[in-house]
Amino acid sequence: MGVKGERDGPSPHRISKEKPNQNLKNIMSNLSMEQWGEPIGPEVMVHSTSQQAVEQLAGEIAAGIRKRTRQGGRYVLGLATGSTPIPLYEELVRLHREEGLSFEKVTTFNLDEYYGLSPESEQSYHHFMQKHLFSKVDIAPERIHIPDGMVPRNEVERYCAEYEEAITQAGGIDLQILGIGRTGHIGFNEPPSDDSTRTRLVTLDPVTRQDAASDFGGLDFVPKEAITMGIATILEARTAVLLAWGERKQEIVSRSLASSPSSSIPASFLNLHQDAAYLLDEAAAPEFQPA
Ligand code: PGA
Repeated sequence: MGVKGERDGPSPHRISKEKPNQNLKNIMSNLSMEQWGEPIGPEVMVHSTSQQAVEQLAGEIAAGIRKRTRQGGRYVLGLATGSTPIPLYEELVRLHREEGLSFEKVTTFNLDEYYGLSPESEQSYHHFMQKHLFSKVDIAPERIHIPDGMVPRNEVERYCAEYEEAITQAGGIDLQILGIGRTGHIGFNEPPSDDSTRTRLVTLDPVTRQDAASDFGGLDFVPKEAITMGIATILEARTAVLLAWGERKQEIVSRSLASSPSSSIPASFLNLHQDAAYLLDEAAAPEFQPA
């Protein structure tokens, strides 16, 4: 697709190489990335709390936005939903209100949306994004992109190709924020999803639907399908940052980091990315095992 090549110069981002938790070197040496030759695995950054983690990331995003704005360009941010990124959005809103961070020159692309939900629905990701970020910052509505969950079925394929094209036209995604589901999904790329997948209609895994049941007032009300960016789409972002907090995510984070890239754990494809990071709190971090 040539998305990466469309803009000259390096990414405005440099996720800090400083690892707050020195045990990480040992953690990484216990993982099996070596089998892929030169270890190009993602950076793993563990903070004591999720709040510290999001402050770091929000600072990186703010620096990226300001740099690109100074250069007269637009910063393209890939956004995620779910409980995980909420504190990040709170911090970005704080930076807007208290430190003058402007989103006027920011374009956004969300990862996914439930299929069959209207933007007005309280459970829709359109609603989520308005509530947690867009209504609280100065972003231009025409530069917000979220997959439309109401596209008629016979138009989905064309619509998804247009979503991909819009990302390309915007110059590609500078930084993609990701959560991880207990199935190993990023976006709604449930297993098995491989690294050739593009924006498309997918069927949600039963585990994912179960995890969403409380938001919908019961499993029966959780949509069975969604439109999601693909793994290939996500891997084209210049920087990708996967966030995970809490013990509940520890097992899948460990499995993803330790896995060779595999469609059975879609997040493990990040292990191939040149500039990917896992940003974790201590509870979500792989257990430290003495070497
Ligand atoms: P969560 O969802 O942030 O609500 O845990 C993450 C995901 O499923 O990607």
